Amino acid sequence: MKKILVATEKPFAPVAVEGIKKVFDEAGYETVMLEKYTDVADLLKAVESVDGMIIRSDNVTAEVVEAAKNLKIVIRAGAGYDNIDLAACSAKNIVAMNTPGQNSNAVAELAFAMMLYNRRNGFNGTSGTELRDKSIGIHAYGNVGKFVATIAKGFGMSVYAFDPFVKKEEIEKDGVKAADTVEELYKKCQFISLHIPANDKTKKSINYELLSLLPKGGTLVNTARKEVICEESLLRIFEERSDFNYLSDLVPDCKSEIEEKYPGRFIFPTKKMGAQTAEANINAGLAAAKQIVGFLEKGDTTFQVNK
Ligand code: 3PG
Repeated sequence: MKKILVATEKPFAPVAVEGIKKVFDEAGYETVMLEKYTDVADLLKAVESVDGMIIRSDNVTAEVVEAAKNLKIVIRAGAGYDNIDLAACSAKNIVAMNTPGQNSNAVAELAFAMMLYNRRNGFNGTSGTELRDKSIGIHAYGNVGKFVATIAKGFGMSVYAFDPFVKKEEIEKDGVKAADTVEELYKKCQFISLHIPANDKTKKSINYELLSLLPKGGTLVNTARKEVICEESLLRIFEERSDFNYLSDLVPDCKSEIEEKYPGRFIFPTKKMGAQTAEANINAGLAAAKQIVGFLEKGDTTFQVNK
């Protein structure tokens, strides 16, 4: 009997786990659950004999790959796969996949939850401001960016986007203004919503030069990855501009300095919350489970990211 590990330090909603188990039961597989683990040793032990594995932001390092003697497939139930050592997987012929688009709406909604909470001063009884008629710049127009555009239009915002990998016409057919350069986006938009992946090209790319272009009330909303931010630049902008706000689903390394010096101008969660809805968990979890069965039974490699 094939064994599939669901290793989620931040667990899926119970209803999603039920659905995942049902998919594996029907395929005749055994489901092994490892939730809320705090020690990587537990993960190393759990992967030892499994054929497949579903993860979220859990790190699949070379050490994990090495410990997994039977592993044939690892699925990141979500979009970003920067937490998987793809080279280590490829070296052992392990297929790595993601489940693009499945949790995107949840992430987009969180971006607006943070903007509203921030602009209403944390609901502290004082007078805040509205999103209507403000400009928002979507940095990377992928699955999440598109949902952000739809919601932003509902709020009556002016919506801009920049994505060097998406044709201008593609962006503009959605009623979104395409910026020619990333600088233009940051110059025009009071809110910037980040949706770039973390890779060698993007790490620390949100720097002082870009952030200093933001107009008055400039607010950076990060539901992407902490690594794309140059934190020295972030601290410099916080210090130089009392109008700057940073709303992030990712806790920065410089969290305590920001908390101490710039109260009311940031949001950081206890854990990454963007994809943490029952709907996103069901969509991404079930897609992951079905992709595992599709691969192990039929060799389907759609969504493989280490080709
Ligand atoms: C993603 O890349 O899909 C998101 O960052 C969600 O991550 P999570 O599954 O750890 O919440």
